[in-house]
Amino acid sequence: MKITLMRAAACLALFGSAFAQAQTYPTKTITMIVPFAAGGPTDTVARLVAQSMGNKLKQQIIIENVGGAGGTIGAARVAKAAPDGYTLFMHHIGHATAPSLYRKLPYNAQTDFEPIGLVTDVPMTIVARKDFPARDFKEFLAYIKANKDKVTYANAGVGSASHLCGMLFMTAIGTDLTTVPYKGTGPAMNDLLGGQVDFMCDQTTNTTSQIKSGKIKAYGVTTKTRLPNMPDLPTLNEAGLPGFEVAVWHGLYAPKGTPKQVVDTLSSALQTALKDPNVKQRFADLGTEPVAESRARPEALRAHVKAEIERWSPIISKAGVYAD
Ligand code: MLT
Repeated sequence: MKITLMRAAACLALFGSAFAQAQTYPTKTITMIVPFAAGGPTDTVARLVAQSMGNKLKQQIIIENVGGAGGTIGAARVAKAAPDGYTLFMHHIGHATAPSLYRKLPYNAQTDFEPIGLVTDVPMTIVARKDFPARDFKEFLAYIKANKDKVTYANAGVGSASHLCGMLFMTAIGTDLTTVPYKGTGPAMNDLLGGQVDFMCDQTTNTTSQIKSGKIKAYGVTTKTRLPNMPDLPTLNEAGLPGFEVAVWHGLYAPKGTPKQVVDTLSSALQTALKDPNVKQRFADLGTEPVAESRARPEALRAHVKAEIERWSPIISKAGVYAD
């Protein structure tokens, strides 16, 4: 009897301290893991959101870039982190494609994470080095097909958005190309600007300023309609790849087991950040916009990840692309 009472007291003490921590959360700096190199599109979205959420929470949110293996190294790090609200995870559509691309992931993309909310949907652009010998998408396609053994394509590893877009693109044109993997499309952009790699499909959060400054060429955007901030850029659908469409949704997560009260505090701070005029303006400048408030919630992201894993699985297995 005595042992049971001691156990009950211990459980109460544990529950009580977790409850007390959730009540006062956050009391120290929070780390947001970005599973790609600094300077890329995921990093850009994360830093904008972290800054604004930190203001709301009155605690600093620092970004830690953990790149490699298309974002799965960063995901594995978060899956093993303490569920105390002090490790967050900003990832994109790659979190839903990795389960089909990697047969031996060291985590479960659904059950090892606590969804906090969706963040934004980012369009992608087909971009090339500025001296690429093609004036429009039609000439671009013709050149690629005529030089398929020479042309190089940059991505951020199997499971990245640039990998997914490249896979869909190569399948659509029926041509496999030499791929150069990076730890993120931030470093890939450096090589594109330097002419060391020929082209890539990357998010407007990373390509907009380079396109507008003329430092790289853009041949098309992967959304149904043209972008308000680059209206002269045709959609791939109208330029020559009917039905080609991909956008990169981003979600914010915590490790599984993070207390509900902490998750709700974080989701509320995310919703506030997505209404922040500075965040909205920067997103608009970069060709994107925050998701509606109703989607910046745990249940919306949980349902979206499940639906996206189910959506991409047959497409990936049909393409026959695997990482391991
Ligand atoms: C990045 O942030 O580097 C990109 O999201 C990588 C990718 O997914 O293509």
